[in-house]
Amino acid sequence: MTKQEIFFDDIERMDAQDPLANKQKEFYLPDNKVYLDGNSLGPLPLVAKQRAKEVVEQQWGDDLITSWNRHQWIELPTSVGRKIAPLIGANVKPDCANQVICCDSVSVNIFKLLATALSINSNRHKILSQSDNFPTDLYMAQGLSQLLGNQRCELVAVDEASIESSIDDSIAVLLLTQINFRTGKVHDIKRITELAHQHGVLVIWDLAHSAGVIPIELDNWNVDFAVGCGYKYFNGGPGAPAFIYAAERHHANMQQPLSGWMGHQSPFEFNANYQSDAGIKQFLCGTPAVVSMSLLDAALDVFNDVTINQIREKSLALSDLFIRLVKQHACLKSLQLITPLERNNRGSQLAFTHDQAYAICQALIAEGIIADFRAPNILRVGFSPLFLSFKDIYRSVETLNRIVSEKIYENEMFQVRQAVT
Ligand SMILES: Cc1ncc(COP(=O)(O)O)c(C=O)c1O
Repeated sequence: MTKQEIFFDDIERMDAQDPLANKQKEFYLPDNKVYLDGNSLGPLPLVAKQRAKEVVEQQWGDDLITSWNRHQWIELPTSVGRKIAPLIGANVKPDCANQVICCDSVSVNIFKLLATALSINSNRHKILSQSDNFPTDLYMAQGLSQLLGNQRCELVAVDEASIESSIDDSIAVLLLTQINFRTGKVHDIKRITELAHQHGVLVIWDLAHSAGVIPIELDNWNVDFAVGCGYKYFNGGPGAPAFIYAAERHHANMQQPLSGWMGHQSPFEFNANYQSDAGIKQFLCGTPAVVSMSLLDAALDVFNDVTINQIREKSLALSDLFIRLVKQHACLKSLQLITPLERNNRGSQLAFTHDQAYAICQALIAEGIIADFRAPNILRVGFSPLFLSFKDIYRSVETLNRIVSEKIYENEMFQVRQAVT
């Protein structure tokens, strides 16, 4: 793309040439809205809507408890894990054990993995993380530290620039998020994992903002453990369960502390003593959230006929366009882009700082452009390539321009803070 001004004709051409343009019709999207928040909560895939009806009316309604066998509810954590695996570069070797399981929330899964990694690297006790990591990652490490004591679990949180220099032989586990939830900056998983391994450090990658939107090769990059989200780019619905990846080489030594019955090697023998499953299933704890997991199972089928490379290419094209259109409007100079311009360092969202970011976001929502706000001053726009068009981006920036140039955000109603931002 050249650097000259972009006109509406150019946008129409981009949509006409978009190989993913047809995917939009697989989603229910409300009329006259542009959804720039699929990085927070994916919209409703029609297959998931259909599955919700089946699971509730037919499976739960008619078939009742027999559905655990008849509709393979009991297999869902494993079968959904198998669907996620190719999207994150897992289970790529033939005959490889299953390494991905769907369960619980990202937070709970981080707790399980931190405890597991600390027990594998038991002669060390430090967890290294980034001080502006998603807070729950730090909170879970803090909670574990409180439980085990600082002698057995100590969180060391450093700023981004100091991460690599802080990796040394005293660190047990490195806990990082691939795409920063505020800035959208991407970490190089392969390089950082290699560096960590040179010092005997195990790595846990949080893929909440990356799974489903950027190519990930967990097996090839030798990652030890990872977690990720079902409700963002996988479009599994509000509160959809998360997933865990654990490399096969660790299976023989793993022991996670939330030893619930579903992680037992034979739950339906009802033994008094816990004996964990030998593989990835040991990360299960209690009864899976069947309705939610079924919706995620259906939603993942949307990925059947597309590649992550196609998705990544369109995601970058959408964010490139957004950046270029913002630059075309002089008054949008007041918005400061804090996401890297370099494509390799950019995830699938853009973050702009502005003193009035919250009010601008509310004004955008009132105009049908759904973005979000992250305290203290970030306007965040996310690019989910499966349902967004280039025209959507054009309309979003035109609306943003109007809101800022006409100071529409100054209206009092846009200043009222909601519980969820
Ligand atoms: C990077 C990251 N990690 C973890 C979480 C929390 O996930 P959960 O609510 O499933 O525990 C989020 C939620 O947005 C996130 O963005």
